[in-house]
Amino acid sequence: MDVFGSDTGHEQVVFCQDKPSGLKAIIAIYSTALGPALGGTRFHPYPTEAAALHDALELSRAMAYKNALAGLDHGGGKAVIWGDPGRDKTEPLLRAYGRFVASLGGRYYTACDVGTYVQDMDVVARECRFVTGRSEAHGGAGDSSVLTAWGVFQGMRAAAEHLWGTPTLAGRRVGVAGLGKVGKHLVGHLIEDGAQIIATDVSEPALDWARNRYPQVDLVADEAALVRSDIDVYAPCALGGALDDETVPALRAKIVAGGANNQLAHPGIEKLLEERGILYAPDYVVNAGGVIQVADEIEGFDFARAKLRATAIFDTTRAILQLAGTEGIPPAVAADRLAERRMSEVGRLRMIRL
Ligand SMILES: NC(=O)c1ccc[n+]([C@@H]2O[C@H](COP(=O)([O-])OP(=O)(O)OC[C@H]3O[C@@H](n4cnc5c(N)ncnc54)[C@H](O)[C@@H]3O)[C@@H](O)[C@H]2O)c1
Repeated sequence: MDVFGSDTGHEQVVFCQDKPSGLKAIIAIYSTALGPALGGTRFHPYPTEAAALHDALELSRAMAYKNALAGLDHGGGKAVIWGDPGRDKTEPLLRAYGRFVASLGGRYYTACDVGTYVQDMDVVARECRFVTGRSEAHGGAGDSSVLTAWGVFQGMRAAAEHLWGTPTLAGRRVGVAGLGKVGKHLVGHLIEDGAQIIATDVSEPALDWARNRYPQVDLVADEAALVRSDIDVYAPCALGGALDDETVPALRAKIVAGGANNQLAHPGIEKLLEERGILYAPDYVVNAGGVIQVADEIEGFDFARAKLRATAIFDTTRAILQLAGTEGIPPAVAADRLAERRMSEVGRLRMIRL
């Protein structure tokens, strides 16, 4: 990907290296139009430097859109640490990384992502104050999956209202793929709302959790079996790429709303969903509860306030689905338009000199 080319438009991309600790990191800031960029740090053994840069650029752009639609006063940024978290993650490396984040003077706030955990943010925070997603013991908000699942539930309720007229999943069959941190909380909300759950996971402890906690949940062998079952709603809550050229034609659900990031395997999939009459609540809209939580932590975490903000995912999803309906465009396109509008209209206000 070409940083200065017309295909990106990022504000700033910083390469960070500390040879003694082995740190190789890229911090990408897509936009600070709405405020300091906010996005997690991914620690991953990329095959090449180009692959690491590509991920940093893509993920930081996606964060700008997610933060804008979540109503946050934050722009979009993301960092990648190029390495194997199991082998390379050490205190000196994380603290060296923290010093590079600090050097940006608050233009970028970091948090957890794939390969980094709240304990790692506690270490980064020893060198830098622009860190969120820390452990509760260190003044952080802890596990973000609670509000992520709450937000997904709100987005799903809005989709149900759009399609069936009432904002509830009562009496509906919801297929949940992935009973991890987000999936488990989501199942709880859905059962409380009166939905029937069909679920799958590749991990035996996760399946045991369902058998013990909610024996009424129907467990199926895998995602392929889940999408083919008689479900009204499909909630991908495992890895990315759940909606691809094989799953969408087989899918029996009328709504897709789930916590997983990057559910569309490629850009053409949203069209395929539309052709099949499947309502897709965009992943980055409905799973924003986690970033809402870490953004709240920057102000001094207040669970009730953060939950209120995550509850607003209902209204945002409703507005997106309405816009998509009236304009005849896929919901993902409608979501992008609303995000761009907020970045432009609210971002412009900084031109009023104070
Ligand atoms: N945790 C958050 O706050 C948060 C926020 C936004 C988005 N997300 C996204 O939501 C998704 C789930 O996150 P999480 O925190 O619950 O992760 P997790 O690792 O706790 O859970 C993922 C679950 O998916 C299962 N899984 C993996 N591959 C599977 C497969 N092929 N079929 C069925 N199950 C499979 C795993 O066994 C695990 O139980 C991820 O895509 C994550 O990026 C999470």
